[in-house]
Amino acid sequence: DAIVITVDGPGGAGKGELTRRLAEALDFDLLDSGAIYRVLGYAVRKAGLALFDEESVVQEAKLLNLSFECMDDGVHVLLGGEDVSLAIRTEEAGNNASKVAAYPSVRQALLDRQRQFLKEPGLVADGRDMGTVVFPKAQVKIFLDASAEVRAKRRCLQLESKGKTADFDTVLAEIKERDDRDRNRPVAPLKPADDALIIDSSDMNIEEVFRTAAEYIMS
Ligand code: C5P
Repeated sequence: DAIVITVDGPGGAGKGELTRRLAEALDFDLLDSGAIYRVLGYAVRKAGLALFDEESVVQEAKLLNLSFECMDDGVHVLLGGEDVSLAIRTEEAGNNASKVAAYPSVRQALLDRQRQFLKEPGLVADGRDMGTVVFPKAQVKIFLDASAEVRAKRRCLQLESKGKTADFDTVLAEIKERDDRDRNRPVAPLKPADDALIIDSSDMNIEEVFRTAAEYIMS
């Protein structure tokens, strides 16, 4: 059977980097489930629909023409023919994603699409509910956490490295707002699976996180 490794946790804890490294080391496929919710939020806005209109959002979720393509500089996300890789990475896109992700009907509509990513030899799945809802039987579950302050600091450094200005308090407030929405929604709230290894990366660099996860997987 194909092996599933789930990596859940709040935004900015380093899930993306850990997932990429694990998938590469194991030669597994990778699922960035957050990108699906981000593309959905983007598609809803582009169609001129309202994020608060659950019926429209769920229709859009069912029809979503989304694909991931491997290119020389990494994985690109396509909506129809449009490359939305950069457009879905803004703070606003993250916030819109967490609004559409709060609807139970929308999450249900996207379940099969996520499960279809599972192929031999295995999958590393990055998200909020990979170990709790989408792949409850995953062989390995990791919950990667970090304090909101550390995640805000990392985000600011990342923005500054791209030549953008970043205000720590604003970034921290946005992170907390999204955390609250993800933790308090009615279905698939952000929380560790009972059988997940919790790694707090607040005082760790990516090498240490990767080593901790790799040792756990091999054990
Ligand atoms: O991980 P990322 O920041 O790309 O996720 C964007 C948003 O999508 C999250 O804040 C969350 O609300 C939602 N999401 C989710 N379930 C997942 C992945 C992401 O609800 N499995």
